[in-house]
Amino acid sequence: MSAAVYKVPQDAEARAKINRSTYEQWYAESIDNPEAFWSEHGKRIDWFKPYTKVKNTSFEGDVSIKWFEDGLTNVSYNCIDRHLDKRGDQVAIIWEGDDPADDKKITYRELHDAVCRLANVMKDNGVKKGDRVTIYMPMIAEAAYAMLACARIGAIHSIVFGGFSPDALAGRIVDAASTFIITSDEGLRGGKKVPLKVNTDKAIEIAKKQGADVANVLVVKRTGADVAWHEGRDIAYEEAVAKASATCEPEQMNAEDPLFILYTSGSTGKPKGVLHTTGGYLVYASMTHEYVFDYHDGDIYWCTADVGWVTGHSYIVYGPLANGATTLMFEGVPNYPSPARFWEVVDKHQVNIFYTAPTAIRALMGAGNDHVTKTSRESLRTLGSVGEPINPEAWEWYYNIVGDKRCPIVDTWWQTETGGILITPLPGAIDLKPGSATLPFFGVKPELVDAEGKVLEGATDGNLCIADSWPGQMRTVYGDHERFIQTYFSAYKGKYFTGDGCRRDADGYYWITGRVDDVINVSGHRMGTAEVESALVAHESVSEAAVVGYPHDVKGQGIYCYVTLMGGVEPSDELKKDLVKHVRNEIGPIASPDKIQFAPGLPKTRSGKIMRRILRKIAEDDFGALGDTSTLADPAVVDDLIEHRENRK
Ligand code: WT7
Repeated sequence: MSAAVYKVPQDAEARAKINRSTYEQWYAESIDNPEAFWSEHGKRIDWFKPYTKVKNTSFEGDVSIKWFEDGLTNVSYNCIDRHLDKRGDQVAIIWEGDDPADDKKITYRELHDAVCRLANVMKDNGVKKGDRVTIYMPMIAEAAYAMLACARIGAIHSIVFGGFSPDALAGRIVDAASTFIITSDEGLRGGKKVPLKVNTDKAIEIAKKQGADVANVLVVKRTGADVAWHEGRDIAYEEAVAKASATCEPEQMNAEDPLFILYTSGSTGKPKGVLHTTGGYLVYASMTHEYVFDYHDGDIYWCTADVGWVTGHSYIVYGPLANGATTLMFEGVPNYPSPARFWEVVDKHQVNIFYTAPTAIRALMGAGNDHVTKTSRESLRTLGSVGEPINPEAWEWYYNIVGDKRCPIVDTWWQTETGGILITPLPGAIDLKPGSATLPFFGVKPELVDAEGKVLEGATDGNLCIADSWPGQMRTVYGDHERFIQTYFSAYKGKYFTGDGCRRDADGYYWITGRVDDVINVSGHRMGTAEVESALVAHESVSEAAVVGYPHDVKGQGIYCYVTLMGGVEPSDELKKDLVKHVRNEIGPIASPDKIQFAPGLPKTRSGKIMRRILRKIAEDDFGALGDTSTLADPAVVDDLIEHRENRK
């Protein structure tokens, strides 16, 4: 690990809202007296009825997490209406299309108009407070309108990333019992079309068989493709909003009313519906957005994520808009039409704050410096990274080449479950070490524990837990509170367990080392190895499968599949291709296997448990250190696996 330290630049410190001494003072207050700290900072959003209770949380027993529980507010009101007097004509959203010639700017007043109309369309079609609305959209402004319109009327949105397959979409529609879907005819990414409406139609067919009852599909025109139309069910967005009223009073929501569900993968079972609520989430998302990026009035802010992931929820839409920021929404991909695209967009819109993922940085690094250095990037002030550990080489390139050694990099560690950033530098306060997410944000109490749950002190390695609640934390797994308790609060009593391993150095800096469970991180996308396995065994030729991650230069981790075939089925390259296609159909392109190894047998203990440790080592091409294999039922299978390994260096 890199030992280099990058001191806070003087100009960053001078400009910053939080310097080192403020950080230390606020952090101590937030830990010593969370009630008083959050009572004060909860006021950063507007409340219809102010809260009198601040924190009511327990990580024990039934696990109950409530923040600002008697306050009434509305997220859409906070992201739009309250800015209208002061900044109605300020741009809220800069939309940059897939095609560089395609862009538009939406002011806060226009945003208000669009969101109210859409909210009324939903209401007119029977959507009520508490109903679940599935959003399956490309990165167009209407995706943000849809989120805010749901928030306005108290409907709970469940966004499904546009890269997921009809099967994956169906599963989420069924689990959330959604009756209303918002989609578009097609998406457009890197010049390629994504058949969103076709997928939606297929998903509804599948979901119907599992009891779902979808009443309406609202279809936004993006490419103008000719799509099948189900009379009585499908609604054309453009016609509907044109007829709808542009006034819609925001619903008065309790702080603990649900805002959204977002499905995420775990080590076992189907993806979980992570549930976030209203007040605490918005306080936390907006506060982290302001201080982590040192956001100032008038800044142009760009997060390159997709609204299908939590980063898009908290740091494209809710955090920035609650702060009255100008947020850039990008429809395309980093390398289209060329690997200079990000930096061309930075220059075109004079972006000050830029937030992206290590996988994109590594891919662009591979394309050569010219694509970067031919652009100006002078507007840039702060850079951010999220989604996976950033390797020091990529960090240095981002810092030196993209940021011209001027811009602090905030390496932000957090999760879908945490709602917002938990461990991160603040650009004007915290010295940087490449590869370290550095120190906890206000109110966050990290603890490293050993396998028995003993809290470890000082410089050490351990499992990363958070000892007390913060306002942005998820409240439950939708429809399955028991699973919430089991997944996050049962490994270490009284603590939230993150699933990540972590090292703390002598300066108290945190270095996330990656997942310690069976979750892998492919290009910043989180995937349960069990999900890929169940997709594989659903194929008629497969009898058994074991999936592990292995180090991948660009993706961070690649997907390595060991597959045992049904008796009588011959291994072949054709079959490998078919299996890849099959997994893409079941889950989506992000789950495409990188390597498939046909394995006559898998290494199992005598009780039948697959020894993944061994499979990981072989996939890493590091079989010299397999450790103890004496407990295997049949040690000979290991030799065969090594001999036929797919990842020789
Ligand atoms: C997992 C959460 C949070 C938004 C995107 C991913 C890994 C995330 C970092 C980082 C090292 C990171 C962790 C975490 N992760 N950010 N800065 N450094 N690892 O959200 O899909 O819920 O995944 O991503 O392993 O547990 P997610």
